[in-house]
Amino acid sequence: MIIAIDGEASTGKSTQAKKIAKELNIDYKDSGAYYRAITLFLIRNQINSREKLDNDLLSKIHISQKFKNDTFSIFLNGEDVTSKIRGHKVSISVSEYAKKPEIRKFVYNLLRKSSKLSSIIIDGRDIGTVVFPDADYKFFLYANPEIRAKRRHKEINDESVKIESIEREIRERDNKDSTRDIAPLKKAEDAHVIDVGYLTIDQVFEEILEKIIY
Ligand code: CDP
Repeated sequence: MIIAIDGEASTGKSTQAKKIAKELNIDYKDSGAYYRAITLFLIRNQINSREKLDNDLLSKIHISQKFKNDTFSIFLNGEDVTSKIRGHKVSISVSEYAKKPEIRKFVYNLLRKSSKLSSIIIDGRDIGTVVFPDADYKFFLYANPEIRAKRRHKEINDESVKIESIEREIRERDNKDSTRDIAPLKKAEDAHVIDVGYLTIDQVFEEILEKIIY
């Protein structure tokens, strides 16, 4: 079974995907975390997003994700980068790197390999449209950007970070992700659409679970 949770930035896709994975005892992969880890690797190696990436370089990137006892971790060449990939520099650069065809192919391979091993839930932007168009269940989450920024601000819990700058980053990322030529952020025709803006985490969870179980 493959479940795809796509949607706009900061709509709680990964929170929902982890809850569903736990409830159904299936695997979980965060596709955005792959793009973020690759971005971190390329920034560290001073490779800008306009450069062509050859196979030699890509073969130096080894990423693995683990979801165990409710805890998600991601490793880049053996280093735990779970927190580092959420940093500001990666967040503002990731969309530029994620539109590169060589990077997308790299991530698609990882996701498709994982789907062969067990039932899986994956969150991202193009899981139900491009990576797994035949997924068993598809969801698309969206919400007003102001509400998303407020929620992310609360989650970050750092008063030095302004809500306005979070909102700007969210809007810019959504704009870049939905206007790119390759695998843009868009709702799959057959996805269940959920406006998460006025629902609690548990209400969204119940709505998703109901569609899968009944
Ligand atoms: O957690 P949040 O929704 O803010 O973002 P994310 O899932 O960590 O994704 C980070 C970025 O990776 C997105 O803004 C996209 O540019 C890219 N991405 C993508 O292109 N395709 C995916 N399937 C997942 C993420």
